[in-house]
Amino acid sequence: MTDQSEFQNLQKVLKKYGQTRLLAFWDRLGPVRQERLLAQIGQLDFIQLDRWRAEFVMNAAPFKLPVKLAPAPFYAHQPGDAGQRGKYDQARQLGDKLISQGKVAAFVVAGGQGTRLGFDGPKGNFPISPVKNKALFQIFAEGISAASKKYHTSCPWYIMTSPLNHQQTLDIFSANNYYGLNKKDVFIFQQGTLPNFSLDGKILLADIDAIATSPDGHGGSLRALYNSGAMADMKKRGVEFISYWQVDNPLINIFDPLFVGLHALDGAEMSSKALVKTGPFEKLGNFCLADGKVTVIEYSDLPDELAEKKNPDGSLVFELGSIAIHIISVDFVDRLNNHGFVLPMHRAVKKISHINDKGQRVEQKEPNGVKLESFVFDALPLCKKSVILQTIRSEEFAPTKNATGVDSVETTRQMMIDRSAAWLESAGVKIPRKSDGLPDCVIEIAPSFALTKEDVIKERDKIPAIKPGDKIYLA
Ligand code: UTP
Repeated sequence: MTDQSEFQNLQKVLKKYGQTRLLAFWDRLGPVRQERLLAQIGQLDFIQLDRWRAEFVMNAAPFKLPVKLAPAPFYAHQPGDAGQRGKYDQARQLGDKLISQGKVAAFVVAGGQGTRLGFDGPKGNFPISPVKNKALFQIFAEGISAASKKYHTSCPWYIMTSPLNHQQTLDIFSANNYYGLNKKDVFIFQQGTLPNFSLDGKILLADIDAIATSPDGHGGSLRALYNSGAMADMKKRGVEFISYWQVDNPLINIFDPLFVGLHALDGAEMSSKALVKTGPFEKLGNFCLADGKVTVIEYSDLPDELAEKKNPDGSLVFELGSIAIHIISVDFVDRLNNHGFVLPMHRAVKKISHINDKGQRVEQKEPNGVKLESFVFDALPLCKKSVILQTIRSEEFAPTKNATGVDSVETTRQMMIDRSAAWLESAGVKIPRKSDGLPDCVIEIAPSFALTKEDVIKERDKIPAIKPGDKIYLA
């Protein structure tokens, strides 16, 4: 920085917000590194950061249970009566039409660190399919390609990465020739980051000229869609609806006419799929109506007595869990960004490697700081209208979060096989089963063969007889 007064102003700002440590090693930096550091500091909104520091870093802000709390209304998986059946049919037709007109885009959030899985590289590159070991990205790409064929259109795909995995993701797509998709239909962009704090509220340095940062959470997608130009691209293409999902769920039904159609028919701004939780304490956010607004309350924030509360028929009052599948209207993302929206922050205490006061790098072994993240479902209460559609776990939700155990590689693969087996059985194919009821075979259905159970029925003649121990790949 050449202008001395500008530099002094910056020092004043840092002093005001207690962050002068950011310049602690200034005199050790040459001009290029000084500029680099200044550019990063210049990106920070100190007023906002200081609010978050006070509210979420220094304290774990206590969760305030809304005064008026009720279960959220939802559309059941199957229509309840003839009137509702008519609405579902109408929604399906509308959804079909909107998808065929290219008004629905696929959008996967893939900027996370994937620490629990412990896989080296972007999670989307994790090999998961049970026979061919296809990566998650490949499964989604083939699904999008198959939907484009089915609906006689080019369904665009938007992928959010973060600085942690952006270049690697670009390289993977390039090395795999975009998995057969047209490169112009794939838009890969980065989410924002937020600085990391020490437990006493100081912004940490990753190097003497670099702020320690991490991705700003999947909630950051709503801003990144806008800032990256993805939204402008959507508008140019005539996209009106965004089909949002997480990179670790290979069972996603990206283009679901019923879901799109209900969202559009009801004039919703952001809609969600939900499933009935396995029990009161399953680690899924709870769909609630909080002071009249659809809201997801995290499992850790819902008091036990409410989580366990039952209806007269024995079902849980708060029975619906969030599975991070949404339809988001492009107009809603526009509205949020044009009105300076701010999502609440969530704090995570983590091990954050950093530069100590002596300018030495510390590889942290114990939690020492706070990362802040926003969550996409916190945008739901900002909607004028929000629809929830119940779905069936075995059809649509198999998250690969962990290497082993619950929600792991193993459970996901098994669920992929189970769903394929169920689809084949619905087409009248005999599936050998073991004594515990699980399929006694490994089956993989490529999206090119079937995107839904109904597609399998159409392909019935191409399916061979299956014997115990067989490995079957249908494409
Ligand atoms: P998770 O909460 O499972 O986090 O993200 P993660 O980072 O993938 O994994 P862990 O917690 O470190 O083990 C749910 C989804 O949100 C995306 C992830 O890529 C995943 O698809 N995500 C999360 C982002 O895109 N950006 C973020 O900042 C955080």
